[in-house]
Amino acid sequence: MTSHLVTGIGELTTHDDRFGGPLPDAALVAEDGVVTWVGAARDAPAADRRTDLGGAAVIPGFVDSHTHLAFAGDRSAEFEARMVGATYTGGGIATTVAATRAASDDELRARLRRLVDEAGRQGTTTLEIKSGYGLDVDTEVRLLRLAREVTPETTFLGAHVVPAGVDRADYLALVIGPMLAACAPHARWADVFCEPASPLAFDGDEARAVLQAAAAAGLGLRVHGNQLAPGPGIRLAVELGAASVDHCTYVSDNDVAALAGSGTVATLLPGVEFSTRSPYPDARRLLDAGVVVALASDCNPGTCYSTSMPLMIALAVREMRMTVTEAVRAATLGGALALRRDDVGHLRPGARAHLAVLDAPSHRHLAYRPGVPIARALDL
Ligand code: NIG
Ligand code: FE
Repeated sequence: MTSHLVTGIGELTTHDDRFGGPLPDAALVAEDGVVTWVGAARDAPAADRRTDLGGAAVIPGFVDSHTHLAFAGDRSAEFEARMVGATYTGGGIATTVAATRAASDDELRARLRRLVDEAGRQGTTTLEIKSGYGLDVDTEVRLLRLAREVTPETTFLGAHVVPAGVDRADYLALVIGPMLAACAPHARWADVFCEPASPLAFDGDEARAVLQAAAAAGLGLRVHGNQLAPGPGIRLAVELGAASVDHCTYVSDNDVAALAGSGTVATLLPGVEFSTRSPYPDARRLLDAGVVVALASDCNPGTCYSTSMPLMIALAVREMRMTVTEAVRAATLGGALALRRDDVGHLRPGARAHLAVLDAPSHRHLAYRPGVPIARALDL
């Protein structure tokens, strides 16, 4: 056992209810990568090693519970067109699928790792990564294997869209049958883009069929729901006990009622609304109804090419009227709940010692200093 004492923490956010908020002048001890003690610096026990953070604020490392980091190609021209009036439809996904299928494992691995490193340089210590840019059995398996190299939180998203030139019913049968069977050993989760308004994505019945097959194959469930229009995604996610329903941009009273008191987290992805110039989800309505909310980046080449959780916090506070406390909690503990993890997203004793160290005196600076790289990941 090696114990590691971290001192010089100007403000420590733990999500430990014993403290009722961030602790000033705090210290933390980890043993073999697990938090064993947090408290006031003056009470800190001795340890084998010591690191002084010089007054930095510390929060739990960000848990980015929704990304699509395994892809090749570039869609910056699509983004530029959107900024002068084009609407996001999901049609650009085909461009990424073609580039991804053509890329070698080494190329995909290098890109993926660069993005994971980029996220870490902004304080992310846990990442979920989806497939969904292969849309054939071999490439979907390849993407999940590569994602598995960097995270246990891998998600099979064969039901992202129906690929060009493939019959809808045939594709659905492939996803539910051979593709799921080949992918399930490499995935913890399955996800589906449930969006009846999009001719490319899946309606409620199709999404239900995919999710039920995935659950029968032993996968946990997640849903892309209610992104582009009202629809059945949220209620389906709640009904099937999904861990999370993500986007939640177009939400009805029934959707809010279904989410409140359910075990399904509403994951908001404000980088998507920012990068597609769309209306933001009504975070206040969800929070005020008691819904558990997570914030994630959705980093992907189409709707939000950013790995920055601090940016998501700044957008949540500025554009969605979440308090800074709510936003930081949603980006850490909320993400952990969306992944059904109790060992990350907080810094109570027993947690993994995954920290985000801020070059700032308070967690408030995450929203107060938008675009400034003040956060970095530190795994003890
Ligand atoms: O989460 N909504 C569907 N999927 C992605 C975007 C995929 C893309 O455009 O490449 C999302 O926004
Ligand atoms: Fe997504």
